[in-house]
Amino acid sequence: MSFAMDLLLLATSWAHVLLAPYTKVEESFNLHATHDVLMYGVGRNNLHKFDHNTFSGAVPRTFIGSILLAWLTSPVAYVASQWGLLSTKLDLQLAGLILSQHSAHNVLTFLIVRLVLATLNATGLMLVRRAVCRRFGRPTGLMYVLLMCSQFHLPFWMGRTLPNMFALFPVNLAFYALYDRAPQSQYPARRSADVAFALLTFTAVVLRSEVVLLLAPLAIQALLLRRISFMRLIKIGFLSGMLSIVLSVTVDSYMWNQWPLWPEMYGVYFNVYQGKSSDWGTSPVHAYFLSHLPKLLLGSLPLAVLGAMSDNRVRVLMYPPVLFIALISCLGHKEWRFIIYVVPLFNIAAARGAWWMVSRRKGGLFGRMMFLAAMGILALNCAITIVSTCASMANYPGGSALVTFNDQYADQHAVHVHISNLAAQTGASLFLQSHSPPYIPSMSAPATNDWVYNKTESLSPRDLTTSSPLTHLIAESSVEFTRTGRWKLVDSVQGFSRWQWNLPRGGIAKVLEVPLHQWLSVLEMETNDQLYILERVK
Ligand SMILES: *[C@@H]1O[C@H](CO)[C@@H](O)[C@H](O)[C@H]1NC(C)=O
Repeated sequence: MSFAMDLLLLATSWAHVLLAPYTKVEESFNLHATHDVLMYGVGRNNLHKFDHNTFSGAVPRTFIGSILLAWLTSPVAYVASQWGLLSTKLDLQLAGLILSQHSAHNVLTFLIVRLVLATLNATGLMLVRRAVCRRFGRPTGLMYVLLMCSQFHLPFWMGRTLPNMFALFPVNLAFYALYDRAPQSQYPARRSADVAFALLTFTAVVLRSEVVLLLAPLAIQALLLRRISFMRLIKIGFLSGMLSIVLSVTVDSYMWNQWPLWPEMYGVYFNVYQGKSSDWGTSPVHAYFLSHLPKLLLGSLPLAVLGAMSDNRVRVLMYPPVLFIALISCLGHKEWRFIIYVVPLFNIAAARGAWWMVSRRKGGLFGRMMFLAAMGILALNCAITIVSTCASMANYPGGSALVTFNDQYADQHAVHVHISNLAAQTGASLFLQSHSPPYIPSMSAPATNDWVYNKTESLSPRDLTTSSPLTHLIAESSVEFTRTGRWKLVDSVQGFSRWQWNLPRGGIAKVLEVPLHQWLSVLEMETNDQLYILERVK
């Protein structure tokens, strides 16, 4: 049973990676950092080749998550390549099935990077699951897993290289250390509390500074409930804080060639103190509670309220995350990913609420209605997740375009292709530039590997056309190029545009006449041409 629950968590995280393999611009710093560490290593001689030298982003970010991910990926990629050689490149074909045959070389590594991260975060959730089973009983553990897997955001993102998804793992380890205890026990083991606060301090210092706002209420609660002494907390925080600062400053100053650099502190200075994050837009104070949290949690939100009402242990568990959201609501710029860490805790509360409802199924009409309502919430979660996943699968036209392109010209030499901004932002990552070095040492390179993938920004159609070395374009429009007579349109790539209700006219009565098997087509996805593949006319 425990094994099945863990497998479900893992399978969900892998399914999202394989269904929507490409990545977007938010993920690209860490993805490209991981790519560069994998391909070039971290030696001084190759640092100038790293992508962040050209595309540095608004603020420097830490390399530590990416370096660790690359180091974890490389033995897996090595084993995969050896195993592939033995079994007639089955692994490449696996990547080929999902993406494409010719792009498979680097693409396999890319999939492994994402699968490794997904597995890591799934492991964090499995540990929390163990804690839930121990403290609240197995049925609540099962509800926790079902709610977790039926949601969209966290499972979809946990295999994506956002800095927040690197932070999610140590935060979940800390939750495990704090909450894995006997049903009625008040205190975590002393050692566990130490580990939890050390991990949270490390995460806040090195990976994501907003975690400090979660650390503070957890620490205050631990002090009030006498789970840790004040002196001990100060000692742990100071020690792990200092070590983390030294680690981040050493590694990141070296990688960015800027001394001294502590990226998270720089981020706080830039975004909070100088207020630059407001340039990205501000949201009202209540946005986290009224808009982001419902989106992240779906049906878990009402269930969590029920869980908190029905069990005092849940209330105690929920004060820190609720306080965290209240604190972070004071910052003007709000994004769902800043509060992603509390989703597992809310799901624990929701699982308790769901089990309260489900366990009443034998108690008469009210009980049966409670049972049905709980099942209905789960079904609704699944429906929303399926719709969101379908839209997301079609939402990476840049990735699809580049893979199509690689396939189409796989045998051609000296291709010089320009990748437009939209393409670069919607999936055309370095990993997909498969006909151009670098290659991971343990993987074989494809036959044609002399291409140039050109991402130079803000070039006009004129720049791209006259006296330029480009042979192909992946562009955002086609007419401006084709009408010059110098380019011909080869292919166009579709992307998600919107959902369209396909309801029959004539009111509710007509809707009810729709035969059951046609219900699936009531909601239809609309796509439109978003990118064009063009070839220079010779
Ligand atoms: C990319 O294309 C631009 C515009 O044609 C050109 O000036 C530049 O040299 C190209 N970059 C590389 C690396 O070839």
